[in-house]
Amino acid sequence: MMAGVVIEQIALEDELGDVLEKAMRYACLNDHELALRSGVSAEKIRDAIDYRYDLEPAELHRLAEVLRLNEVGLSALAQGHYPLPEISGLPFCLYPLRTPHGVGVANAYVVADCALSTGLLFDTGADISLLRRVWPKNIRRLEAVFITHAETEHMGALQGILAEFGSVPVFRPEGATIEGALALGEGARLSFGGFEVKTLRTPGHVEAHNCYVVTTPRVPAGSPLLVAGDVLFAGSVGAPYFCRHQFSEHLTRLLDQLPQGAVVAPGHGPLTTIANERRFNPFVV
Ligand SMILES: [Fe+2]
Repeated sequence: MMAGVVIEQIALEDELGDVLEKAMRYACLNDHELALRSGVSAEKIRDAIDYRYDLEPAELHRLAEVLRLNEVGLSALAQGHYPLPEISGLPFCLYPLRTPHGVGVANAYVVADCALSTGLLFDTGADISLLRRVWPKNIRRLEAVFITHAETEHMGALQGILAEFGSVPVFRPEGATIEGALALGEGARLSFGGFEVKTLRTPGHVEAHNCYVVTTPRVPAGSPLLVAGDVLFAGSVGAPYFCRHQFSEHLTRLLDQLPQGAVVAPGHGPLTTIANERRFNPFVV
């Protein structure tokens, strides 16, 4: 449970090799073209993508320059010390629910008034039996389920959740196919108890993708929570499978328009803040 001040100590979604590979796709450069432009050998670049790192600081500098990456964040990743911020100021309890899926881990989140046993669920992970293992014992009822995007690792446990919690309203992005779920488009606002959930339509990773901003209007000084799905991670970003241009546009909008202190709850990897990612995220320059 997140309440008070916490720095998460879990693994990042992406390490240096993953970030370089994603950045090369963004820049439409293969290893030979990147080698030509940066002066770093193609072999070293391929090794880094395979997690065998032998890059000198000067080479990282040139790669960051050609790929237009934030060098401070990239160097921190290279040293295995990407900075994670203190998570504080949330005026409610946040329960990250991390479940394994394939070689990775997917995050779902319960948001709840710390004194109550009713919560809101954001994404579900892939598998109800794995979700049950990390389910917060004090949360016995759900008021709503919000899905960021219709990939198995983010909503595979939905039917299991509905079987356990009964008829709970489920909300999905416009254009996503999720039986029985209601579509939420850009700017939609819903209130549940003391919470307000605002929808931001954020296509890019996939066409039908929503981020959700959770606030508590009766505590206006509290930090908002951005449920970011597969747009923004601590130290990286999602892959723009649908559209690179729209992906960057929405990433920039999140970073520019949300308060610096907003807590970011990504679909993979640790919690972070808008301020931290503006300062260090390799993809933010
Ligand atoms: Fe994902």
